[in-house]
Amino acid sequence: MNRSPRRRVLAATLSAASAVLVASGAVLLSAGNANAATTLGASAAASGRYFGTAVAAYKLSDTVYSTILDREFDMVTPENEMKWDATEPSQNSFSYSSADQIVSHAQSHNQRIRGHALAWHQQQPSWAQSLSGTALRSAMTNHITNVATHYKGKIYSWDVVNEAFADGSTGARRDSNLQRTGNDWIEVAFRTARAADPAAKLCYNDYNTDGINAKSTAVYNMVADFKSRGVPIDCVGFQGHFNSGSPVTSDIQQNLARFAALGVDVQITELDIAGSGTAQAGNYSTVVKACLAVARCNGITVWGIRDSDSWRASDTPLLFDNSGNKKAAYTAALDALNSGGTTDPTTTPPTTNPTTSSPPPSSNPTTTPPATAGCGATVSLNQWTGGFVATVKVTAGSAKINGWTVGVNLPSGAAITNSWNASATGSSGAVSFANVSYNGSVNAGASTEFGFQGTGVGPSVTPTCTAR
Ligand code: G3I
Repeated sequence: MNRSPRRRVLAATLSAASAVLVASGAVLLSAGNANAATTLGASAAASGRYFGTAVAAYKLSDTVYSTILDREFDMVTPENEMKWDATEPSQNSFSYSSADQIVSHAQSHNQRIRGHALAWHQQQPSWAQSLSGTALRSAMTNHITNVATHYKGKIYSWDVVNEAFADGSTGARRDSNLQRTGNDWIEVAFRTARAADPAAKLCYNDYNTDGINAKSTAVYNMVADFKSRGVPIDCVGFQGHFNSGSPVTSDIQQNLARFAALGVDVQITELDIAGSGTAQAGNYSTVVKACLAVARCNGITVWGIRDSDSWRASDTPLLFDNSGNKKAAYTAALDALNSGGTTDPTTTPPTTNPTTSSPPPSSNPTTTPPATAGCGATVSLNQWTGGFVATVKVTAGSAKINGWTVGVNLPSGAAITNSWNASATGSSGAVSFANVSYNGSVNAGASTEFGFQGTGVGPSVTPTCTAR
């Protein structure tokens, strides 16, 4: 069954009388140093992106850890707690307590969640490892249905299938018990996940696919095939585990861009880079800038907080040292985020007519009218029968704004069930969304995003935006 959602991009307005610079269909955003955000999440949000980290449930009680988590990150991935062995230790008997702990922490700190991972050849419970054929296939779909249903409506994107391709130059699928159930196991996994949670973005996730090589090209061909046949896939995750044997290369941006051109979002999902000092900092800068240069690269996740939290701690591959101090790599990542990025052209507001929006040229700068504060809002709607997810982009006009309120009119029968990155007043009819603490301040011409999920039919009227 194909329940691929119908995507509609709605018309947009910019109420500010300012021109947005448009180059090659993408809006170029830049944050001047004076107004640069000071946390990874806020800096990423300035160009409509997220900055996340892998989280271990048992570390949430460590206050150094949780303080950094809640200050810096607006997306979390449970590092191990949503894997098959953790969530279904005995067949058809599910165990969600550790994963639920992370989800509830995230929800109470305005962090979204990347689910990881529904189907993978590793971390299978021993009962699944001993299955094969139709028994394993049924166990896999039952697992996906149960886990995705348990977290329905709470997951931004799911890594539906993880690491299904072989390393090296063959471009082949990896041999595994799941692969031996039939070559269609990946698309069956995606269709099953879509049926269980239609609002979650569904990703394929892998490593050593960051640059252009035989493995990434094999994944690319699979995604192109899925898109052409209507198999539901929304995003591709590039893990980004780098060390001397698997270095950061200059073609990462090109690779992300070629996947994005297939019509999927791309995300850096498990970033860590072995090294230290300026060399490591330079590599972080390169990867962050590669993502920012691709409009559909909508977020970056690092695979842990402090070096000591890493699965390969001796490589010191993360942004904070063992004591929780910011490393040079942190500053490089933050600076790269603050240098701006391109936004998704599919959700870019139209330009205003420069002849009516720009002040006339003047030789005397003292006669130039002051910059006009204001904002505009655009909605991108993911609608399916009975429900929808709306992503709203708020764009500042010709002056920096310090807060915003977006008004949305919902059609009769529609109701909002949850929202993120904004505070909602009302749930049906005329609903208003105000900024939260970390995304009210938006530089001139820059954008931030919030979203909401609802039942019924999503809004079709252009929202209003009021700036403070
Ligand atoms: O929780 C048990 C503990 O009770 C036991 O005493 C201990 C003994 O070794 O093991 C603990 O579980 C370990 C778990 O990490 C939590 O620390 C597992 O053995 C160990 O295999 C597991 O490793 C994880 C690995 O995936 C395998 O699932 C790493 O933390 C995790 O960072 C790593 O993450 C993967 C991504 O999911 C996919 N991409 C690659 C990435 C790095 O390998």
